[in-house]
Amino acid sequence: MAKLEIRNLHVAIDGKEIIKGLDLSIAQGEIHAIMGPNGTGKSTLAYTLMGHPAYEVTQGEVWFKGENILELEPDERSHLGLFLAFQYPVAIPGVSVANFLRSAINARRRAENPDDKGMPIPAFRKILKEKMDLLKMDHDFAGRYLNDGFSGGEKKRTEILQMATLEPEIAILDETDSGLDIDALRVVAEGVNALSGPNLGVLVITHYQRLLNYIKPQFVHIMLGGRIVESGGPDLALHLEEQGYDWVREKYDEAVA
Ligand SMILES: Nc1ncnc2c1ncn2[C@@H]1O[C@H](COP(=O)(O)OP(=O)(O)O)[C@@H](O)[C@H]1O
Ligand SMILES: [Mg+2]
Repeated sequence: MAKLEIRNLHVAIDGKEIIKGLDLSIAQGEIHAIMGPNGTGKSTLAYTLMGHPAYEVTQGEVWFKGENILELEPDERSHLGLFLAFQYPVAIPGVSVANFLRSAINARRRAENPDDKGMPIPAFRKILKEKMDLLKMDHDFAGRYLNDGFSGGEKKRTEILQMATLEPEIAILDETDSGLDIDALRVVAEGVNALSGPNLGVLVITHYQRLLNYIKPQFVHIMLGGRIVESGGPDLALHLEEQGYDWVREKYDEAVA
């Protein structure tokens, strides 16, 4: 069973420490949510796991399948079975959603076997159709140009479809704080619910407590000041929904300052 293990992670941006010793372990089959107020370093964690060059890891390790992924390039992380959603996917006019997904699948096949000739088109079409049905998506969507004029919800839908076709073992999804509409939120939640099972581990990162109306994580973590300060089960999510973050701030203010 594959497991992503974050150990004592410290991350700095422009020399300023943002993540200050974070430990977290996510196994296949588990759904985790990291919640926390704005500015606590949630997106910093997501970008660091993706391998964004602006985020400097000053301490700690992230293990997956026997490798410290912090030493790998973003595409190598992906080929290993990690899915790291991009908050702001770029538009590529002229490239259809289907072509983009096929390139992604073929890139991974080539990473496993350099002589691979790519997935035959009929086989790819079959998979794409299955995944779109699973996600209750209109098949016409596959023919549209990638992210070209897509709404927030459609971008998220593309992202979830990409996740469905790549079949990662661990997926990390960061919710953007700005411009997140309820439609996009529902797409992510329904996608995660449709795809979750014993083979998929998910980390959903959000500041948006309403996500918990749609997704039922088994593990809920609260992040404050660059650390995970509380971990629990669905009860913790309920408590957050009723009480907000004030009690967390009060309880941990000293630790954060
Ligand atoms: N690229 C960046 N350059 C400088 N500061 C950044 C950058 N990204 C994030 N920060 C700072 O890091 C802190 C955490 O930000 P972020 O990870 O986006 O928090 P969250 O996602 O929890 O709202 C904030 O103080 C933010 O201003
Ligand atoms: Mg964020």
